[in-house]
Amino acid sequence: MGSHRVDDRLITRRWYDRIAPYYGGISGAFEVPSRRAGLRQLAVEPGEVVIDIGCGPGDALTEIAHRVEAEGFAIGLDIAPSMCHIARRHIEVAGLTDRCLILEADGTTLPLADASIDAVFMSFTLELLPIWLIDRLLDEVARILVDDGRITIVSLVDRPVTCMQTLYWVLHWCAPRMIDCRPIPLERYLTDSGFQVERAERELMAGIPVGIVTARPQAIGRMESNG
Ligand SMILES: C[S@@+](CC[C@H](N)C(=O)[O-])C[C@H]1O[C@@H](n2cnc3c(N)ncnc32)[C@H](O)[C@@H]1O
Repeated sequence: MGSHRVDDRLITRRWYDRIAPYYGGISGAFEVPSRRAGLRQLAVEPGEVVIDIGCGPGDALTEIAHRVEAEGFAIGLDIAPSMCHIARRHIEVAGLTDRCLILEADGTTLPLADASIDAVFMSFTLELLPIWLIDRLLDEVARILVDDGRITIVSLVDRPVTCMQTLYWVLHWCAPRMIDCRPIPLERYLTDSGFQVERAERELMAGIPVGIVTARPQAIGRMESNG
């Protein structure tokens, strides 16, 4: 818990920069099914402009770049330079450089214009941030999304409580830098930030609950009338 009271983005950046070459091998077997389920839920259409925040080595990004087709555009954004480098290489190998841009940047200060993005994807990244940065990142997402734009987030979630999740919490408390994702109340964070949850699924990743949630920013008028 203590590690998340401070803004430790520099430490996160250094950590992911260091493990980038091994990340796919370490996370791949566990995270791939949830990431795929997230992409199914996001349902990218040809011609859309889509950003993957915290794109890592670019597995989801490559899939997104395929799905937007030649008339669309995919943006991968990551705070760690080595992750960006590997993602760029994957996009090159896939022959998708003409419809894809990789930005080395912080997801809480997106270098993108207002209302310029159709859809946002995030997998296993939001839960790395402390709550005040989650608020800021979701505000940024609401700013860059077009009217009726959407976000799909894949994240460890705090419900239901399982034995494996309890074990994961213990490991997280013992080694918060290495076991760095933490289960969060994803839907509540989204609604608190003014999003309307449209679809929410749960699955287990090695016994640990993962949430896959799609939401849209609520129109201000609608939020006010809801009280
Ligand atoms: C656990 S990895 C997940 C990578 C990828 N989304 C996946 O599912 O394979 C988290 C990624 O988020 C990036 N990240 C962490 N904090 C970030 C921030 N504030 N802004 C942008 N990227 C960030 C890390 O560098 C890392 O690549």
